[in-house]
Amino acid sequence: MSGPVRLALFGVGGIGTRHLELAELEPECEIVAVADPLEAAGAAAERHRARFYRDYRELLARERLDGAIVATPNDRHAEVGIACAERGLPVLVEKPITDTLVSGRALLDAAADHGVPVAVGHHRRFDPVVGIACHAIRSGRIGRLAAVECLWALRKHDAYYDADWRRARPGGGTVLINLIHEVDLLRHMCGDVARVYAEGGSHLRGLEVEDTVAVTLRFANGAVGTIVASDAAPSPWGWELGTGENPLIPPTGRNCLRFVGTEGALALPRLELWRHDDDVPGSWHEEIRSRTLTAAPRAALKDQLRHFCGVVRGEHLPRVSGEDGLRTLRTTLAIIEAIERGAPIVLEDRSSPTAAGGPQPPRGRRPDS
Ligand SMILES: NC(=O)c1ccc[n+]([C@@H]2O[C@H](COP(=O)([O-])OP(=O)(O)OC[C@H]3O[C@@H](n4cnc5c(N)ncnc54)[C@H](O)[C@@H]3O)[C@@H](O)[C@H]2O)c1
Repeated sequence: MSGPVRLALFGVGGIGTRHLELAELEPECEIVAVADPLEAAGAAAERHRARFYRDYRELLARERLDGAIVATPNDRHAEVGIACAERGLPVLVEKPITDTLVSGRALLDAAADHGVPVAVGHHRRFDPVVGIACHAIRSGRIGRLAAVECLWALRKHDAYYDADWRRARPGGGTVLINLIHEVDLLRHMCGDVARVYAEGGSHLRGLEVEDTVAVTLRFANGAVGTIVASDAAPSPWGWELGTGENPLIPPTGRNCLRFVGTEGALALPRLELWRHDDDVPGSWHEEIRSRTLTAAPRAALKDQLRHFCGVVRGEHLPRVSGEDGLRTLRTTLAIIEAIERGAPIVLEDRSSPTAAGGPQPPRGRRPDS
């Protein structure tokens, strides 16, 4: 393959537009064509010198391509992603990989049948702060991980929910659209989740989908965690608020993730490392001091795009593979299931994601069963 990687983009909405803008600045790729059923998307295509199709199948039939980005609503990821795989195209699919485990497995089966890689757009794994924090945790800077606490709260503008797909199950709701980022980060940083419990509901917005949740997590390594999230409550705490990664959300610079271990604590995204003395774990009678670790400037979406170009050229595997994305989806869907059933959901004894479409084990098992 010589020259820039030739990509198609499916879905020119909020995040699709950002992919278009980033690709325009990226010498390693060009988005040569876009598809979106909305006529209005044609203007964005024209601005970025991409050919415009209203039907994604027509685009796939006509264009010479090396890879594809799927940025459609969640409930269209599988259909469009499978069509790309059948054309032999490596796919970067926005998170969540799909809206259900069955459709996620179907996408991965199609990709395997056609020998193409699937990368999932959990772009925060490309944030340098996450890389530094992972290294700090894995190298023992806070000792053995005891617990993690995550807070994500902001108030979305009301028109956000004018888009039908965001307000309906199974694809919509703040858990699958937003909280999945937190779930993926925690899986990446703390390891797989063994058990999930959650309370929550839609008492603030009154939609079919939840607006506020409180989640408890038990990780396979014994650590525990909590996530509190609401998209109907303004606050300065949340990843986008803390980092400023989304140009449409003014930053506050506040921490929203706290890891505590047997020898110290780490708060993100400011990368504050708290310890007693460097040589000993210390005790509550001794002063605990903080220092700030440094990370390179963040450009996570851009770095994800460049990484995907390497995937298309066959230089490396996706950093977030389809299987990994499916595990994050499975953990995230367990939050919704726990709310609906009013019972903890055990994940570790479920059949692997490879059997996600098969029979489910007994639901709502108690922690001590
Ligand atoms: N990584 C992130 O931080 C991030 C941020 C926002 C959204 N997302 C994800 O990106 C996806 C899109 O979200 P959004 O907020 O941009 O949604 P959106 O509603 O703003 O845009 C989706 C677009 O896809 C189009 N579309 C629908 N069906 C299509 C099809 N079959 N083929 C081509 N286009 C089609 C719609 O007309 C719309 O223009 C979702 O999966 C969402 O979860 C990721």
